[in-house]
Amino acid sequence: MSATSENRWFSDLLLGWYAKNGRQLPWRETKDPYKIWISEVVLQQTRVEQGQPYYLRFVERFPTVADLANASEDEVLKYWQGLGYYSRARNLHAAAKYVNTELNGQMPTTYEGLRAMKGVGDYTAADIAALAYGLPHAAIDGNGYRVLSRVFGISTPIDSTNGKKEFAQMGAELVSQKFPGEFNQGLMDLGATVCTPKNPQCEICPLGLKCIAQQNNLWQDLPVKEKKTKVHDRFFYYFHISLPDGRIVVNQRKDKDIWIGLFDYPMVESKTALEQTELFASKDFKELKKRMKGLEMVAEGKTLKHQLSHQTLHATLFYCKAKEATLKPNEQAVTAEEFEGLAIPRLIEVIGNK
Ligand code: ADE
Ligand code: SF4
Repeated sequence: MSATSENRWFSDLLLGWYAKNGRQLPWRETKDPYKIWISEVVLQQTRVEQGQPYYLRFVERFPTVADLANASEDEVLKYWQGLGYYSRARNLHAAAKYVNTELNGQMPTTYEGLRAMKGVGDYTAADIAALAYGLPHAAIDGNGYRVLSRVFGISTPIDSTNGKKEFAQMGAELVSQKFPGEFNQGLMDLGATVCTPKNPQCEICPLGLKCIAQQNNLWQDLPVKEKKTKVHDRFFYYFHISLPDGRIVVNQRKDKDIWIGLFDYPMVESKTALEQTELFASKDFKELKKRMKGLEMVAEGKTLKHQLSHQTLHATLFYCKAKEATLKPNEQAVTAEEFEGLAIPRLIEVIGNK
C-alpha cells in the first residue's frame, strides 16, 4: 500500500512543520549513504547531543567506506570508545570491508541491499534508503511509534508482533513518496521535541487537530507496551467553597483532559499523595487561596478512589468557606439548585454526597 489522498494530510502537515522546525544536524547535510549509515549506528548508542562529536570525529578519520575498511579493528574501536556496545563497531567494520571488497566500495543502492549488510536492520536500511536515495521507506524509531500511536489512537502494543506489523504498514502508507527522508527525520524530531513521552506540547503540534490522543486526552496511555501497561495514579484535592450567600464555586473542565465540559470544584492536582501541609504549601493551593478571600477549612470530607480505564483517581474533598471569590473564566458561583442542573462527573456526585 502507499500514501493515498485520504492520509496525505499526515505527511503534508509533518513536512510543513519539519521545514520550519527540523533540527540542523551534521548528518542531515549529506546524501552520502556511508555517512548516513555511520550516523544511524552512532545514534543507536546514544542521544543526539552526545552522539554528534562521535559522528564528526568518526567521519573525519574515516571519510569513506574504503578508509573504514582499511583501518585496523583496534583503531575503529578506539574511535568508538565511550559509545559502548562494541559489537556494533565490529559489525560496522566488517560491513565496510564487505562493501569495499564485494561491492567495489559502492554502498548498496536498494533497501534489500542495505539490509544485507552486517548490523543493518529494517530501521537503518529504511533510513539510509530514504535519506540517501529518496526511496519511499518509512524508518520508524521509538519517537515515531509514539507519534503514530497517539495520532491514530492505536493501542496495539508497539513491542508485540502484531504491533510491529501494524506500525510498519502504517508507515508504508503514510510515508511521503516525494520526500521520504524528510518525512522520517520529521517524525523523529516531532517525537523528540513536541510529542515527548511526558507533557507533549499539543498546542503547538502540527498534527494537533487530527490527533486522537489529543482530542480524547489519551496521550498518557499511548503508546502501549506489552511488557508494562501501567495504570497511572492522579491525586485530586477538591475544595468545596461556600460563599456568604450560600453559593458554591464550581469549575468547568476545559483542558485536554478527562471530563471536558463537565463541572467539578476548584482543585489541586498532584502525581503523588500529599500530606495536608504539603498540599497547603503547594503553588496551586496558594494561588487558589489568593483568589478566595478569607478561605477557611470547615471540614474534611470523603476521600475515595475512582477507577478510569487507564487512570486511578484518588480524590479528597475539603469543605471550606470564603468571604469573596475572584473567579477564573471557567469558574462560576452557583446556588445548590443551579448545581443540581449542572453536568458533573460521577466522582463528584459520589464525593459530594455526605
Ligand atoms: N535518532 C536516530 N537517528 C536519528 C537521526 N537521523 N536524527 C536524529 N535523531 C536520530
Ligand atoms: Fe503528540 Fe499532542 Fe501532537 Fe498528538 S497533538 S501528536 S499527542 S503532541
